[in-house]
Amino acid sequence: MRMISPIIFIFSLLLSSSHAAVQDFCVADLTAPDQSPTGYACKKPEELTVADFVFSGLGVAGNTSKSIIKAAFTVAFTEQFPGVNGLGISLGRADFAPGGVAPLHSHPGVTELVHVVRGTITAGFISSANKVYSKTLKEGDIMVLPQGLLHFVVNTGGIPAEAYFSMSSASPGIQTLDLALFGNNLPTELVAATSFLDITQIKKLKSTFHGTG
Ligand SMILES: *[C@@H]1O[C@H](CO)[C@@H](O)[C@H](O)[C@H]1NC(C)=O
Repeated sequence: MRMISPIIFIFSLLLSSSHAAVQDFCVADLTAPDQSPTGYACKKPEELTVADFVFSGLGVAGNTSKSIIKAAFTVAFTEQFPGVNGLGISLGRADFAPGGVAPLHSHPGVTELVHVVRGTITAGFISSANKVYSKTLKEGDIMVLPQGLLHFVVNTGGIPAEAYFSMSSASPGIQTLDLALFGNNLPTELVAATSFLDITQIKKLKSTFHGTG
């Protein structure tokens, strides 16, 4: 008999939960101002349809000829896919021409899963102990890139490659090493002092990555 009262308690919780103010989701209202860091306001639940939870933009390959990285990234983050807002998850598609690259970069606080569906890529990350974990991945392979660590991808397969990357954030940030060093107005002398690179190389890369100073 001592078991009955907890069971009744749980049952009454289940019954009452249908009236509780549980927030199942918060589809971002992109027309309202972004209230970062708390995020977007939620669209009114009565205005939502299933279309708010579907994104159809990943079916087409990105154009890999538009930049020196010979790669294109198509993403379904909160801004493109408001339905993932606040859910700690999102997805993107990466297309790599032969030799295409995702240059060394990191996503602060965010873990990434890479899933190769076509071609062969070499992916890797570098731990806080500066140990390199790198492997050539083929169709069907997935690799986890632990939160915040610098990582890269190179299409080493000689044919176009297609991969999907799932992020543990709906609005992941990105820091790209080349852009941090050469794509802003950090003075050349400070880049040289803090990186041990020579001035000529820094000026050349600033020109490539549209940096000044
Ligand atoms: C890809 O981008 C290049 C360079 O901007 C352009 O010349 C080409 O037409 C584009 N290809 C497609 C399929 O849009």
